[in-house]
Amino acid sequence: MTLRAQRWITLVRMEAFPCPELGECGLLSDVSQSSDPAWDRARTFDHLDPAQAATIHETLAAFRKACPVAHSEAHGGMYVVTRFDDLRHVARHGDTFSSAAEVGAVVVAPETGGVIAPLFEQDLEEHAGWRRHLQPFFTPPAAAGHEDYIRRVAREVVAGLAPRGQADLVPDLCAKIPPLVIASLLGLPEEQRPTLAALVHGLAAADSAAAAEAIGREYTEFLLAHIRSRRGKTGSDVLTSVVNSEINGRLASDHELLKFAFLLIAAGNLTTTDQLASILLELAQDPALRRRVVAEPGLIPQLVEESVRHESAVAATGRTVVRETELAGVPLRPGDRMLLTWGSGNRDEEHFPDGDEFRLGRPRRPHLGWGAGAHRCLGLHVARVELRVICEEFLAAIPEFTLPDGFVPERTYGVIRGVKALPVTWPV
Ligand code: HEM
Repeated sequence: MTLRAQRWITLVRMEAFPCPELGECGLLSDVSQSSDPAWDRARTFDHLDPAQAATIHETLAAFRKACPVAHSEAHGGMYVVTRFDDLRHVARHGDTFSSAAEVGAVVVAPETGGVIAPLFEQDLEEHAGWRRHLQPFFTPPAAAGHEDYIRRVAREVVAGLAPRGQADLVPDLCAKIPPLVIASLLGLPEEQRPTLAALVHGLAAADSAAAAEAIGREYTEFLLAHIRSRRGKTGSDVLTSVVNSEINGRLASDHELLKFAFLLIAAGNLTTTDQLASILLELAQDPALRRRVVAEPGLIPQLVEESVRHESAVAATGRTVVRETELAGVPLRPGDRMLLTWGSGNRDEEHFPDGDEFRLGRPRRPHLGWGAGAHRCLGLHVARVELRVICEEFLAAIPEFTLPDGFVPERTYGVIRGVKALPVTWPV
């Protein structure tokens, strides 16, 4: 597992769990009797193994067909959920499939001291209390309120790129804007937003445990200072609000708020960065699609939504079973770990017969790229505005761009699905 994955695994909650007794899982006899090679592949499937990325859609399609709730021995044992209906069922039943830290989530954000992250690692009423409090900051009108800032930043970044005639769009565009937007949403003053962006990028790029530790400490101190400076203040931003409001009957501690901030930044940053990379890859690989969208920018919202369905940036997140149940005929017991492969549901042949195809103008129907149930993406309206505006600004300034001949994209998969590099050129 890469350092980057370790640092951001906070979203997957899928590591260091007690190994369920295989003999008790109820699947052993089925597994040993099945002759379908998908069962064997499932037994060793590890979503955090970078080698999975290139063939992930074929792998998950084989699981959907042969073993839709497959048992893998990776990470101490987990069930890999791959079909649309099963994914939605798990996501909608938080009383059976828990997101809570108490039942096994892993704490990775630096120096959070094992505290539970409000919202992300809560279930049911506790979760609902935080969700109700945060919802007003994430409505469509609230998201639209960020458009001017996003457009200004996007225009600046694109204006810097355009005369160069070449760039790796992943670091030079996709990764540049999302940390600034999430910093703005949190309520950081404009001059401090680049500091947050630099810390986030530094943490992701750290190439040793010591480097990650050092930058993690700096990142922690930076956020803690912001949290503490807001105590007793009034303000209309997310951070000031959560620092000063009694949610579920009490004020959150500094450590809880710190972990909440870490996770919100991760949720709002890597996701949008990688989704944008997938969109631009699609446009670079399909010149007819690119020309169509350039000629008709009104298609960009569809482009964004189809990309979230087709290459869902949030690849896989976890749940823990807290009461006996079954899924697709597989008996499950408290403590069993579930891996929800959202992108697989979005290519489930039952719901999307031609799901492997990237197609604008699909009939509108629910997909799982934003998740489902109580934990469905809180930031989806912000993400939609952000991705639309960046695409509008980029395509207006750089309508034609090409990848090198024979370029094979290196895809990533794990918690997040993205592309490692997009080295494109364009006429200047
Ligand atoms: C294309 C970009 C994005 C995608 C594909 C995406 C996808 C998702 C998915 C699938 C989940 C559900 C995870 C689960 O149930 O285990 C989720 C949750 C969440 N997302 Fe997003 N997301 C994106 C962008 C954002 C942004 C920009 C923000 C913040 C500004 C954000 C904030 C959140 C939060 C707070 C949650 C947790 C909600 C809860 O636990 O109630 N996301 N996201």
